Amino acid sequence: MPEVKIIGTGSYAPELIVSNDDLEKLVDTNDEWIYSRTGIRERRVATTETLESISAAAARIAMEDAGLKAEDLDMIIVATLTPDYPLPNASSALQKELGAAGATCFDLNAACTGFLFAMNTASMYIRCHEAKYILVIGAEILSKIVDWTDRSTCVLFGDGAGAAILAPSENQGFIGMVTGTDGTKGYTLTCGDTLTSGEQDNLNPFKPPVKSEDLISRYVYMDGPEVFKFAVKRVPECINQVLEKTGMTTGQVDHFVLHQANARIIESVAKRLKVPMDKFIINMDRYGNTSAASIPIALDELLKSQKVRPGDVLMIAGFGGGLTWGATLFRI
Ligand code: ACO
Repeated sequence: MPEVKIIGTGSYAPELIVSNDDLEKLVDTNDEWIYSRTGIRERRVATTETLESISAAAARIAMEDAGLKAEDLDMIIVATLTPDYPLPNASSALQKELGAAGATCFDLNAACTGFLFAMNTASMYIRCHEAKYILVIGAEILSKIVDWTDRSTCVLFGDGAGAAILAPSENQGFIGMVTGTDGTKGYTLTCGDTLTSGEQDNLNPFKPPVKSEDLISRYVYMDGPEVFKFAVKRVPECINQVLEKTGMTTGQVDHFVLHQANARIIESVAKRLKVPMDKFIINMDRYGNTSAASIPIALDELLKSQKVRPGDVLMIAGFGGGLTWGATLFRI
């Protein structure tokens, strides 16, 4: 079974920067509340950009980093909950944009854990000799599903894209993973759309009408405190499980790349694991919560910083809607 390596990364975020002060003009909030409760100072919001354009920008940077051309790609997996359209899927649209004619393409939706699941899936394809070069993208335009009049959610999210290219290697990259889902808690993070909200059913003459109180909101709804409690318990738990499974310790992990939802969640995880905060990547101050894009953007920034040396061990951990979670141990 071949080993798997990350051979290139890239990231891209829309140009418009929206600060906490900017949001103060839209809803009853302020920089002090947002920063102290979440660690977020600003986020990017798409104006002319689309999911396809930001994904393509991140992909091109990753391909250049890896020294690959689009024709070299065997597979493209896009993790997103905000594709430009239900059809064609985001990965097929990206294939056309990049000219990656030889790539098999599919999307994957596991909310904020999406990139981690996509990366694990790509690793398995490579280990089974079914693909050589796989482009894995995490991208979101969350600004289109955010209710800009709801202060409890609109301050949290941002738009962006991150990319990683995985390839076979002689040296061990992928070390191990633990993943999980609890569908019974799905109600804590929800969002409908034109097809699923029930509005479309009311245009179908063969279906009974959906009452207005049964229509699902087209905007993100989140029970913040419930999701917070879930994250601070489940994330350290699954990190410990993957360490136990692989016979490693927190001391052997050089960097922790967690989903960037809230700085207080990361501080709590660090405390529970008894790991110093300087091993944890924090960039939600500049991007907010970009869901599936948050881990690959953080990964790209980490790998291009001076902090990483060849052979370093990374713990990548995601959590989010579903509810879903996972931790993957990777050597660079
Ligand atoms: N500005 C000012 N006040 C606010 C704001 C705001 N933007 N938003 C809420 N408040 C108020 C509330 O109305 C409430 O006021 P009250 O006490 O008078 O009722 C008070 O602040 C406290 O609200 P809480 O929701 O209890 O605040 P909390 O400290 O829990 O922080 C937060 C909320 C930041 C959302 C937190 O719960 C959190 O981070 N949860 C986890 C989010 C997460 O991890 N998501 C990941 C998955 S996302 C995905 O999968 C797409």
